Amino acid sequence: MISDSEKQTRLIAAGLVKKYRRELKAKCLIFTLRGDLGSGKTVFAKGVAEALGIKKIIRSPSFIIQREFSFGIDKVKGNFVHFDLWRMESEEEVRKLKIEDSIKPGNVILIEWAEKTSRLLKKILSDKETVVFTIKISETKENFRKIRILVKE
Ligand SMILES: Nc1ncnc2c1ncn2[C@@H]1O[C@H](COP(=O)(O)OP(=O)(O)OP(=O)(O)O)[C@@H](O)[C@H]1O
Ligand SMILES: [Mg+2]
Repeated sequence: MISDSEKQTRLIAAGLVKKYRRELKAKCLIFTLRGDLGSGKTVFAKGVAEALGIKKIIRSPSFIIQREFSFGIDKVKGNFVHFDLWRMESEEEVRKLKIEDSIKPGNVILIEWAEKTSRLLKKILSDKETVVFTIKISETKENFRKIRILVKE
C-alpha cells in the first residue's frame, strides 16, 4: 500500500482498527512496527489511537519507552499500550518490560522498533488470543511511504 501523506498513513491505521474492532471482545490487537527513523511509525500510532477515540496527544514514547491510554469502544473497555523499543539494547532488556502482561482481550498494543525483539514476536504470533499486525514502513520519496501489512488472526 502506498501512502502519500501523513494523513493517509493515519487513515490506513485507523481503517485496520475499524475493520478488526469486533475482535476486541475476545482478543488483543497487537501492531508491531518496523521502519527507519522518521518513517512514520508514530504517525501510524496516532491513527490507531484516533480510531479508538483517544484524544490525548500521541508522540514517540522514546524516553519513557511505554505509555498507556484507556479507551472504550463497542462496550469494550481497554488500554492502548504504546511501546518504543528504540533504546533497547538486548532481548533481556525487552523482557524486563513484560510487554506480555499487557496482552489481554480488549487491549490494543503497538510496538515501535519491533525488530529489537524476536523472542517476544514469536510468542505473540503463536498466542491464540491475539490478532497481530506486522507493519513495515519505508520511505520511497518525500511524503510517500510504502506500507506493508501482514495480519495473523
Ligand atoms: N506518508 C507519510 N506517512 C507518515 N509520515 C509522513 C508521511 N509523509 C511525511 N511524513 C512525515 O514523516 C515523519 C514521521 O515521523 P514519525 O515520528 O511518525 O516517525 P517514526 O517512524 O515514529 O520515527 P522514530 O523511529 O524516530 O520514532 C513526520 O514528520 C511526518 O509528518
Ligand atoms: Mg516514533
